[in-house]
Amino acid sequence: MNLDNISPQDIILTGDRTNGPLHLGHYVGSLCNRVRLQSHCQQFLLLADAQSLTDNMGNYLQVRDHVLQVALDYLAVGIDPAQSTIFIQSLVPELSELASYYLNLVSVARLERNPTVKDEIKQRGYQRDIPVGFLTYPAAQAADITAFKATIVPVGADQIPMIEQTNEIVRRFNSNVGQSILVEAQALVPTIGARLPGLDGKAKMSKSLGNSISLSASADEIRQAVHSMYTDPAHLRISDPGQVAGNVVFSYLDVFHPDSQRVAELKAQYQQGGLADSVLKQELETCLQSLLAPIRTRRQHYASDPAMVMEILKTGTRRARDVAAKTLSEVKAALGLNYY
Ligand code: TRP
Repeated sequence: MNLDNISPQDIILTGDRTNGPLHLGHYVGSLCNRVRLQSHCQQFLLLADAQSLTDNMGNYLQVRDHVLQVALDYLAVGIDPAQSTIFIQSLVPELSELASYYLNLVSVARLERNPTVKDEIKQRGYQRDIPVGFLTYPAAQAADITAFKATIVPVGADQIPMIEQTNEIVRRFNSNVGQSILVEAQALVPTIGARLPGLDGKAKMSKSLGNSISLSASADEIRQAVHSMYTDPAHLRISDPGQVAGNVVFSYLDVFHPDSQRVAELKAQYQQGGLADSVLKQELETCLQSLLAPIRTRRQHYASDPAMVMEILKTGTRRARDVAAKTLSEVKAALGLNYY
């Protein structure tokens, strides 16, 4: 699936957990696509507070506070509430009701095989103590996607297993009731910058690993982050030849530098020897500062009026609820749950 095949009939749904600020990884991974797509077809953006609670019941206030913060991140990068419907997951109870039916179409074994869930279980060290809501969140995510009859889900590559599992549920449900009520969706993943590495070069960028640059970072924080980036540990003297592969600064220059010719020159010079890490970092810092400065300005504009942002979310949630309620009633009717 790529951006050119999108038609005005497509419906987009995607969203983010609200347990921390969005960062550059989210930006290249998905936000960029959403901004581009919003004028082409209907787009629903979900603030996944309920999903955040599946492994964060102890931090419910943080989850709640990040609903506003993530909404600000959306608005800051250029999501236009007149074109995209931004809504709060927990305020659309139809989604949980749909999920409760889907839970009967998925086995524990299948949930445990989901590679993303598997990774997350490992990261969190869950065993038999895994919260049931966490294990089953892919079924809830299937509800999020299908409630809107979404055909396209712009996400990072780590979310592909969720779309696969959603489509399995769709096929099972439709074949179960002998009608095509639910619609299969396709993931739209970024072609460049997928899995942007963290500042340490060890894993993908992630708030919880402390290796990220948030979209709301100050100019100072950006400078510090860039200057802390992992380069080539064997590049001790400026005259030494340096490694490009695995060098985080180059991974970022590949994604964020507007002039790929210039990046090619820098790579050649670095490999030959004679190019200081600090020069390279300075060039990257300039790119990131100019990308993030207008985002910061727009964020400040919206952040100065939280009541207006809540009004945007209220309108969006009302609209989203209408759509989800319609799908839910079709699903219930197909299951014969339309008694009177
Ligand atoms: N799982 C997504 C995340 O980790 C959030 C999410 C919830 C989502 N429901 C969704 C993404 C539906 C795409 C579609 O941030």
